Amino acid sequence: MTAALAGRTVVVTGASSGIGAATARHCAALGARVILLARDAGRLRAVADRIGPEAEPHAVDLADPDALAAVAARIEADHGTPDVLVNNAGGGRWRFAEETDPAEARAMMDVPVLAAFHLTRCFLPGMLERGRGTIVTVTSMAAFTPFPGATAYVMSRKALLGLHEALAADLSGTGVRPVLAYFARVDSLFWANNPGSAERVPGAQALIPRIDPDRAGRAIARGVARGRRTVTAPGMARVVRALAALAPGITSALVRRTGHRRNNVGRTDARP
Ligand SMILES: NC(=O)c1ccc[n+]([C@@H]2O[C@H](COP(=O)([O-])OP(=O)(O)OC[C@H]3O[C@@H](n4cnc5c(N)ncnc54)[C@H](OP(=O)(O)O)[C@@H]3O)[C@@H](O)[C@H]2O)c1
Repeated sequence: MTAALAGRTVVVTGASSGIGAATARHCAALGARVILLARDAGRLRAVADRIGPEAEPHAVDLADPDALAAVAARIEADHGTPDVLVNNAGGGRWRFAEETDPAEARAMMDVPVLAAFHLTRCFLPGMLERGRGTIVTVTSMAAFTPFPGATAYVMSRKALLGLHEALAADLSGTGVRPVLAYFARVDSLFWANNPGSAERVPGAQALIPRIDPDRAGRAIARGVARGRRTVTAPGMARVVRALAALAPGITSALVRRTGHRRNNVGRTDARP
C-alpha cells in the first residue's frame, strides 16, 4: 500500500475543506502529487501547506465554466492529463422544493453536477488516449435512499449517480475507471456551511454510524489505490445501500417515517 499512488497526479475538487481536503491528504500520503481546487484561496493554501510541496492549490469557482476550463487547461499544460480526478466539490441546503429559490436549485446543479461533468470532459480525452485514468464521483446516500425535505439536494446527488453510471457505460473497455464514492453523515463543515440541513437528517440514518472527513478521505484514497469501483465508509453504508436495492419499499418507508415533515401546512393524504 505504501506509495501506491507514487508518481500519479490527482486532482481533487472541494479540497479546501472536509472530504476533499482529507482525500488530498491521504492521496499525498500514498505518494501522489495533489492538485487542490476550491474557491477559498486562504483555506486551500492552509490545506496545501499541511500536505507539503507535493500539493498545488488553485483557487477557482467551479460554477464558472470558463474559469473551470482555464484551470483545467493550466493543469494539463503544467502536468499533463491527471491520472485521477476526484469530483467532490459541492454544497446545498436541505429544503423542500417550495422553500428553494430557483437560483439555489440551479447552483446545486452547477456544482457539484455540471462542474463534475465539465472537468471530466476536460480530462477525458487525455485519459482515453493514455488508456488509463480514474474518475471518482463523490455523492451521498441520498442518491439511493431519497429522504424528505431536501429536494434539490437529492436531485443533484441522484444526478451525480447518473453521471457515474453513464460514465461506467461509456468507459467500459477503455482502461478509464469510474469510481463511485458515497457516504451517509460525515461530520464536516458541510453542516455549518448549509444551515438548517442537520435538523433534517432522517432518524433512520442513525443506522449508519457518523464518520469524520478523515475516514471518508482515507476510504477514497485507498479505494483509488486498490482499484475499487465503489467506495464507502463505514461498512453499514454498504449494507443499507444493498437493502435499498433489494427492498426499496422498506428503506423509503423508513426514511419517510423518520424524515423531516412540513408543519403540516397543506398536508393531505386524504382523497378529494
Ligand atoms: N458531509 C456529509 O455528510 C456528506 C455526505 C455525503 C456526501 N457529501 C458530499 O461530499 C461533498 C463534500 O462535502 P463535505 O462534507 O466535504 O463539505 P464541505 O466541508 O462543506 O466542503 C465542500 C467543498 O466544496 C467546495 N466548493 C463548494 N462550492 C464550490 C465552487 N463553486 N467551486 C469550487 N469549490 C466549491 C468548498 O470550497 P470553497 O468554499 O473554498 O469553494 C469545499 O472545499 C459534497 O458534495 C457533499 O454533498 C457530504
